[in-house]
Amino acid sequence: MNTVPLFQALPDNECDEFACELSEGLRMKPRQVSPKFFYDAAGSVLFDRICELPEYYPTRTEIGILTTHAADIAASIGPNAEIVEFGAGSSRKVRLLLDALHRPQRFVPIDISGEHLHASADVLREAYPALEIRPIVADFTRPVALPPRMPGHGARVGFFPGSSIGNFDPHEARRFLRQVANQLRGGGLLIGTDLIKEPAILHAAYNDAAGVTAAFNRNLLVRANRELGADFEVDDFAHYAFYNAPLQRIEMHLVSHRSQEVHIGDETFHFSEGDSIHTENSYKFTVEGFHAMAVEAGFRPAATWCDGQRWFGLHWLEAPA
Ligand code: TRP
Repeated sequence: MNTVPLFQALPDNECDEFACELSEGLRMKPRQVSPKFFYDAAGSVLFDRICELPEYYPTRTEIGILTTHAADIAASIGPNAEIVEFGAGSSRKVRLLLDALHRPQRFVPIDISGEHLHASADVLREAYPALEIRPIVADFTRPVALPPRMPGHGARVGFFPGSSIGNFDPHEARRFLRQVANQLRGGGLLIGTDLIKEPAILHAAYNDAAGVTAAFNRNLLVRANRELGADFEVDDFAHYAFYNAPLQRIEMHLVSHRSQEVHIGDETFHFSEGDSIHTENSYKFTVEGFHAMAVEAGFRPAATWCDGQRWFGLHWLEAPA
């Protein structure tokens, strides 16, 4: 099993970050690549399509929870809040939150992709003229300096939807939560977690019939070919995703159909038939297990809202001052 986190903070000085980390990851056994490299322009479009798939229940389930429990969520957070979103996805979820809150003062989306971030900030400025919008281009897995608090502002509240916390390994998730609990002292974190359920349902969510998740996974190789001049035969790698019940996570891999060599720059990588590249984990949680992790990180779990099937949990974690 992997002991090295797939989704970890980056070293500071980088040659080409993707080139370095890809070649380093392909020299490891088992081979692995960080999922953060999924999100080029094509990857972001494919990801948005995943969120719309009939098999991919988390997005619509979390949106349902945000809608159904909007008033309770707003009451927990309180008026004049300042919202900090870790990773700016499609703005659909944060709009539901902003619409429910009483006089939100400021919105600070943090994302590694500046282009995507500024485009969605512009759309939100139009829709929420009274809201101060302060995007920050940064890797949110590292501590980010937030703009100083203003007099009259309410709680500083983190928003981390989509069960993205499950894409960290448990050690990294705890580290991230500790860092965020510090940044949000006196406020709290609204965070979504996909919950443990019937493995067949989990399996289907990452193995959609239309093959969009497969295309998303393989896009990593397409990107390496385009950006790094690699020569992956993309169709010779199978999308393989399964629920690892003992480790409570979906694992995504790319599995070589045959014995083959791949060149990246002046390096050659050999794949035997069946060799895999581990591209992502998506951990699943129980409410109790997640609360224990949050408490360990310094939060006080104050409320959890679920859908009727308990497929997804949205947690309000208070960060003591
Ligand atoms: N964090 C979500 C999840 O793990 C969304 C996600 C990230 C995802 N990467 C993915 C969904 C790859 C499908 C495939 O489910």
